[in-house]
This record gives sequence, structure tokens and C-alpha cells, in this order.
Amino acid sequence: MQRIRSILIAFGLFAFACSSASAYDPSPLQDFCVAIKDFKNGACSYRRFLFRPKQAGNTSNPDGSNVTMINVDQILGLNTLSISLVRIDYAPYGVNPPHTHPRGSEILLVVEGTLYVGFVMANPTHCLFTKILNPGDVFVFPFGLIHFQFNIGKTAAVAFAGLSSQNAGVITMAKAVLGSNPPINPDVVAKAFQLNKNVVKYLQSRY
Ligand SMILES: *[C@@H]1O[C@H](CO)[C@@H](O)[C@H](O)[C@H]1NC(C)=O
Ligand SMILES: *[C@@H]1O[C@H](CO)[C@@H](O)[C@H](O)[C@H]1NC(C)=O
Repeated sequence: MQRIRSILIAFGLFAFACSSASAYDPSPLQDFCVAIKDFKNGACSYRRFLFRPKQAGNTSNPDGSNVTMINVDQILGLNTLSISLVRIDYAPYGVNPPHTHPRGSEILLVVEGTLYVGFVMANPTHCLFTKILNPGDVFVFPFGLIHFQFNIGKTAAVAFAGLSSQNAGVITMAKAVLGSNPPINPDVVAKAFQLNKNVVKYLQSRY
């Protein structure tokens, strides 16, 4: 009887420990840990909390978009605060191609233009969630999921997005898979995408 009671108590304590544990481990703050630039001289200055972009992102590139990062590299005061911001400029029909942030969720606000946006759920569901957004609209891209924005208007578009990390990181699917250095063996990519190997070699040459 005594033994059963102590087993029950141990089980109860275990259940309590599980229920009070946090939902997941703290995320790493960067890809790897070199020293973070931090406090220099001049203690009470606004400087480490301010960022003034010198110019809008230049969208004359193959994607027709430009992401200006405003993270701990630009604002030292963001260190340990778990937030950052991006400004995204889109040329007409420009795309911010499918990508994921390994360390953050994203909440995007459209300021100018019309964007077709979407994200895909993880395996095996792969549900696609999409919406056409106009100025003032806000959309969420959950942690780690592949997402994109496409400017479907005839004019330039601008959006800002908050990220739940001081350095959310970004992996662009096409660039990572087709433009790795050195290239991934074309047989691997051909099988993965069910493509002819010559098509893969052509695509790899584009990056
Ligand atoms: C984004 O815009 C900045 C500022 O004009 C420019 O320096 C940078 O090269 C652009 N990046 C891309 C990928 O076009
Ligand atoms: C944008 O980038 C293109 C291509 O690099 C360049 O020719 C053009 O002068 C740049 N525009 C501005 C406003 O800097």
C-alpha cells in the first residue's frame, strides 16, 4: 500500500513537472555564435535604438523585390529582445520568393500596393493558405513555414513585417536548393523534384 502510494505521488509530481515545462526550447539567436557587438562607450545614447535607412530597397534584380533587414545587426539595442523588422519593396509583378525564417514567426502589414501572399503547412498536410492584401491589411506567417508575397498590381508595393526574433534568419528555397555552393548533386535534385537532370543543371546554372 505504502509502495503504491509513493508511486502515485511520484507520478503526480512527474505530471506536474511536464505541465509546467515550457512549450519548446529557447531558439538559438543566430546561425552560430560569434561575439555579438554590444555596449561601446557613450552609455545614454539613442543611437543603439535607431535605424534610418539611407534609401528604399532597389528592386532592379531578377526577383523584382528587395528586403531591407532591420535586426540586431542594424539596431544593437535589439539584442535579447526577440523582435526585429523588415521593409520589403516590390517592383510591379515583383516577388519575394518562397522562403522560411528558421527562428521566427512573421506579421506583415501592407503599406502600398496589392500583394498576393501565402504560406504552406508542414508535411504531410501541405495546406496552402493564400490571400490578396491591400494597404492596411495584416497577414501572419507562422514560425518556420514556407511563405511568399507577389506584387500583382501595376504599381510598386511596400510592406513592413515584424519578426519574433532579433535575427530570424532566412532560407530562400530556390536559392538554397539550386544555388548552393558547391551545387547539390543534380541526381539528388532531379529525383526530389521529379525533373530531368538536364533541366536541373540548367536551373543550377541560373544561380
Ligand atoms: C537592395 O537595395 C539596396 C539599396 O538600394 C542595394 O544596395 C542592394 O544591392 C539591393 N539588394 C538586391 C538583392 O537587389
Ligand atoms: C538600382 O540597381 C540597378 C542595377 O544594379 C542600377 O542600375 C540602378 O542605378 C539602381 N537604382 C538606384 C536608384 O540606385
